[in-house]
Amino acid sequence: MRWAAGVDDLRHLTTQRLRLDIPTADDLDEMHAIYSDPRVWTHFPTLRHTEPARTRSMLEVWMAAWGDIGLGPWIVRALDDDVVLGHAGCSPRDGWWNLGYRFAPETHGRGLATEASRPALAAAVRVRDVPVVALLLEHNHASRRVADKLGLMLQHRGPDAGNPDPAAVRLVCADRPLTHEERAATLA
Ligand SMILES: CC(C)(COP(=O)(O)OP(=O)(O)OC[C@H]1O[C@@H](n2cnc3c(N)ncnc32)[C@H](O)[C@@H]1OP(=O)(O)O)[C@@H](O)C(=O)NCCC(=O)NCCS
Repeated sequence: MRWAAGVDDLRHLTTQRLRLDIPTADDLDEMHAIYSDPRVWTHFPTLRHTEPARTRSMLEVWMAAWGDIGLGPWIVRALDDDVVLGHAGCSPRDGWWNLGYRFAPETHGRGLATEASRPALAAAVRVRDVPVVALLLEHNHASRRVADKLGLMLQHRGPDAGNPDPAAVRLVCADRPLTHEERAATLA
């Protein structure tokens, strides 16, 4: 996979209310507090992190993405506070970007996920102009609303393979129409 050269340093950005920083190992405790909180897993309870090692592995994957290609998810804080509010950003996949976001329950409904995700979309297409995709569960209405506000369009609706809930429906939303192959890749 080739990545665009000469892309500006995207490791530290600010938005109107937020500071977006590259993840570090020091973020483990606060990120694990969010990722182990059942309130952020009501749509897929079995994926809740029960061990810090799981959160550490996730952060290592994110840090590797930053090291390899100069973009990955950011840790999100308020401009004037060091408390971790959540994360947002794009993870590289083979031929597409996976946009993800998860925020501490106390912060929900203030537009933070949307505000932090806008620069992620812009950065991703600057680093590599391939589809930006959000994979959602249909009953996760807040997540769908964020995708809508970001301008992502529904590209696929179908069963969620591997989900312990057989009724769960997977949505694939993207910033552009996906080819059949791209859609299949996002579901693999
Ligand atoms: C999804 C999530 C990141 C959104 O974060 P957030 O900062 O609250 O998002 P925003 O405030 O930018 O937007 C949320 C939107 O969803 C709406 N919303 C929230 N709950 C909703 C519900 N049950 N039904 C319909 N809309 C809902 C809000 O009203 C808001 O829309 P609005 O701006 O039109 O009023 C947050 O809910 C979260 O961390 N959830 C748990 C983790 C998760 O599900 N991540 C996504 C996995 S795909």
